[in-house]
Amino acid sequence: MFAYIICTIFAGLALLLYARNPYFFKDLSYMISVLKVVLRMGKILRQKPFYSILDAFLDKVAKQPHKKFIVFEESSYTYSEADRLSNKVARALRTHGRLQEGDTVALFVGNEPHFVWLWLALAKLGCVASLLNHNIRSKSFLHCFSCCEAKVLVAGADLREATEEVLPTLREQGVQVFILSDDCNVEGIESLCDKIQQASDEPLSPQLRINIHLKSPAVYIYTSGTTGLPKAAVIKQEKIWMTSFLQFIVGVRSDDILYLYLPLYHSAGFLMGLCGAIENGITVVLKRKFSASHFWNDCRKYNVTVIQYIGEIMRYLCNTPKRDNDKDHKVRLAMGNGIRADTWAHFLQRFGDIDIQECYGATEGNVGFINYIGKIGAIGKENLIHKMGCSYALIKYDTEKEEPVKDPRGFCIEVSKGETGLLIAKITKRSPFSGYAKNSQQTEKKKLRDVFVKGDLYFNSGDLLMIDNEGFVFFQDRIGDTFRWKGENVATNEVADHLLMVNCIEEANVYGVKVPGNEGRIGMAALKLRENMDFDSKATYQHVKNHLPSYARPRFIRIQDALVVTATYKQMKGKLAEEGFNPAVITDPLFYLEDNKGYVPMTQEIFNSIAEGRVRL
Ligand SMILES: *[C@@H]1O[C@H](CO)[C@@H](O)[C@H](O)[C@H]1NC(C)=O
Repeated sequence: MFAYIICTIFAGLALLLYARNPYFFKDLSYMISVLKVVLRMGKILRQKPFYSILDAFLDKVAKQPHKKFIVFEESSYTYSEADRLSNKVARALRTHGRLQEGDTVALFVGNEPHFVWLWLALAKLGCVASLLNHNIRSKSFLHCFSCCEAKVLVAGADLREATEEVLPTLREQGVQVFILSDDCNVEGIESLCDKIQQASDEPLSPQLRINIHLKSPAVYIYTSGTTGLPKAAVIKQEKIWMTSFLQFIVGVRSDDILYLYLPLYHSAGFLMGLCGAIENGITVVLKRKFSASHFWNDCRKYNVTVIQYIGEIMRYLCNTPKRDNDKDHKVRLAMGNGIRADTWAHFLQRFGDIDIQECYGATEGNVGFINYIGKIGAIGKENLIHKMGCSYALIKYDTEKEEPVKDPRGFCIEVSKGETGLLIAKITKRSPFSGYAKNSQQTEKKKLRDVFVKGDLYFNSGDLLMIDNEGFVFFQDRIGDTFRWKGENVATNEVADHLLMVNCIEEANVYGVKVPGNEGRIGMAALKLRENMDFDSKATYQHVKNHLPSYARPRFIRIQDALVVTATYKQMKGKLAEEGFNPAVITDPLFYLEDNKGYVPMTQEIFNSIAEGRVRL
């Protein structure tokens, strides 16, 4: 009887709460997942000696040695095989690279199993891996490489040319360079695969990594943050743990199979994908890169149940020709970031009932959101437990002056529900901001002080968000000197620096413009030419083609007599970005970068075919 009354009371209470909040049960189940993670984190934090993601991997090796860990092309590797292979790599690097605990090694390797073995090997040696973007070349490469003071570079076999290009500088700096091949006849580059072959697969002593703790850097991941050249975000062991649990929170189970084609040098692929997979002990189907035409066939072939995405990918998939077997697959969950509302609806309708878990967070950030409700268009949902763990706010922001709006006392002002504001999050022990390697200036730039009271300290996300009455979070725009295109951050200053190397260009202002039907912004540059010189389209094309990855090349060029600056001589980007690239509106000469051809004068016809989606950028 008593139990019956209790049950009735609870049921009544639940109904009441549900009536007031239709998301009550999903809110509750999210809270329970987060609580479980908090408890596990607590246990990890108390463990002595420190329990790292590598230890989690080794536990999985002991528990499920014969379970598949990495599936790649026609090969697959069990947890135990991955363990032994990484032992060999660790031994080869320790002997021939003379590595010691705390050393940094730069990995210039694409998505292939070697990447995983190398990272595990470095973890076994207590070393830090610096995850270089393998699309970067020459000057950008050297800039990124110098961020983290690596003493050893390991390059993929397919990246030999790019490595040779920077070899003289690396040798000057005394960097030891290895390439993943069996032999190499280039002076200054040593082959690594033969050395791995010869090394023993015996486990390495944990003594080699005895000093690693929660606050030790684990990897460096490059991000442009919101300003300047790429910076190496310091990913500490604690951050690896926090992001590894994301998979669990969004509902990935230990019997899932993850399809991982996102670059392993970014946080989405590496932290949420690979580290999360290890935490869960699941199988990863690793792909060199995304292919729209192979995507679903792969999912069928490998029995994939979980996919990761960035918004563009979902649109590419929706743009492929319809097939009868579109819904014939086992994918039940998609986790990622940046899917647009129209693509989301289209995707579900076409590929079936897939649980889409849209997440928001920056590599170096200390705040994130998850849209666990599945509300189309939102990047997250506020939740009580989340607010308790991390103190964040949206503040009023002046986009033309590019600074927060202050009240008469000089403090920031929180926006009301439904209004757009800049996301900031309090920097605390529980939600730390580790900053960028060897770049205190840029680290300082991401901090906001004296925000609501004297002496407080916040992380500036650089993103403008809006939170509605129900607590759903929506992305509005990104401020500052970067924009996103094809899932990559483009630093406007870096692109401008390259344009300035072209003889005819005196000044360059780079910004991102919106293209109908596309996520993010594509690159555009306003240029002032040197006196009495014409725009040299050939030289400009040659230079950007040789020095910038394709996603960073300005797609549109606008020639101006003088570049507009603010009162403080900062270049105006907002207004130019809004004006876009329509020749019917802009009277300045415009150029368009045609694939494999170069810069050609912009015409109304080109504009129309882009606007109508006939030409894909
Ligand atoms: C996928 O699942 C089917 C049925 O459960 C099974 O027969 C097949 O061997 C699996 N394929 C792979 C690559 O594991």
